[in-house]
Amino acid sequence: MGKDLGYGHQMQLPKQLKQAIEAEAARFGRATLAQAASELSDNYRFRQSGNHKFMATAAHRIAYAATRMPATYAAIHKVFREIQWPVTSLLDLGAGPGTAAWAAAEMFAELQTITLLERDQELIALGKSFAAQSNHAALRTAKWSAEDLTLTAVLPRHDVVICSYALGELSNQMARTVVQAAWQATEQFLVFIEPGTMKGFALIRELRDQLIRGGGHILAPCPHAQSCPMPENDWCHFAARVERSALHRQLKAGARGYEDEKFSYLIIAKHFAQSALRARILRRPNLQAGFVQLSLCTSEGLQKATVTRRNKDDFKRARKADWGEAWRGSLTTEKIKQD
Ligand SMILES: C[S@@+](CC[C@H](N)C(=O)[O-])C[C@H]1O[C@@H](n2cnc3c(N)ncnc32)[C@H](O)[C@@H]1O
Repeated sequence: MGKDLGYGHQMQLPKQLKQAIEAEAARFGRATLAQAASELSDNYRFRQSGNHKFMATAAHRIAYAATRMPATYAAIHKVFREIQWPVTSLLDLGAGPGTAAWAAAEMFAELQTITLLERDQELIALGKSFAAQSNHAALRTAKWSAEDLTLTAVLPRHDVVICSYALGELSNQMARTVVQAAWQATEQFLVFIEPGTMKGFALIRELRDQLIRGGGHILAPCPHAQSCPMPENDWCHFAARVERSALHRQLKAGARGYEDEKFSYLIIAKHFAQSALRARILRRPNLQAGFVQLSLCTSEGLQKATVTRRNKDDFKRARKADWGEAWRGSLTTEKIKQD
């Protein structure tokens, strides 16, 4: 079950994973890895989705583990917190070095079976070497399989199926096909995470429509299954605060001790009916003396709630509330103007 970490929490990788990454990174010169980290971010920023590899060299793979894995781990961890049910098995599609499996092993105490599908054999070898260092038996005994998702029609059934930061690497047509196979393989929850950009959110919104049409129930982040009220020039995204290790700071030449990883996500439940969630906080709350303003998504559309001291319980709640959380206070709200 999910641990309660408070939303402003600064995420760190599990110690064994951090050490395993540092040990692999020590085999390369810092300048080589910094160059690889820079190429990697260019690849992700400028290359179109399709059938090519974003991580092409051994240095790219280690640079991914050192500079991106902490951020994708933090996003996955935060998303998994929404699943407050026992999870015994996980299927990870486009697993990379196994990021989601590490987050699941931390979050789901009942986890026994992990299956990871990834097309890059060398990333699998790297991920296996990391997993061997874990305290969690499920991670150490995980099954890794070298497979191209676009060529795999039937996937093995698991409680939770996740595809994090991977679907955006496929063409839209391919992504739709993979999503169908993923949905067939889902016993309980299907999870997608993409970068918190207009493009990442556009894909998440499309999946939302596709899966609702296919009979799925949204667990998070949406508090309703009606059409998404986000206007065209905006995007629904959230943030996870990530500690930047010394290695990360060296490779990305940054001084700050943390970064905010922005992501868009969707959790679709196979069997649960619509959750009792009434509203989701879509921005960092605006705290002022005597009142707090919250931007909310509700079944009545996007709303702005102004919570004042007059409503003591809600005011206390609103002062502690954070971006991405469910809002369980009252909805005496004023509609956001959409010009
Ligand atoms: C950005 S990485 C994300 C890794 C991991 N899921 C995470 O969240 O950190 C995308 C991964 O998807 C894999 N991938 C992309 N297309 C794939 C395909 N057609 N079949 C299997 N894996 C694929 C890539 O090799 C890469 O490891």
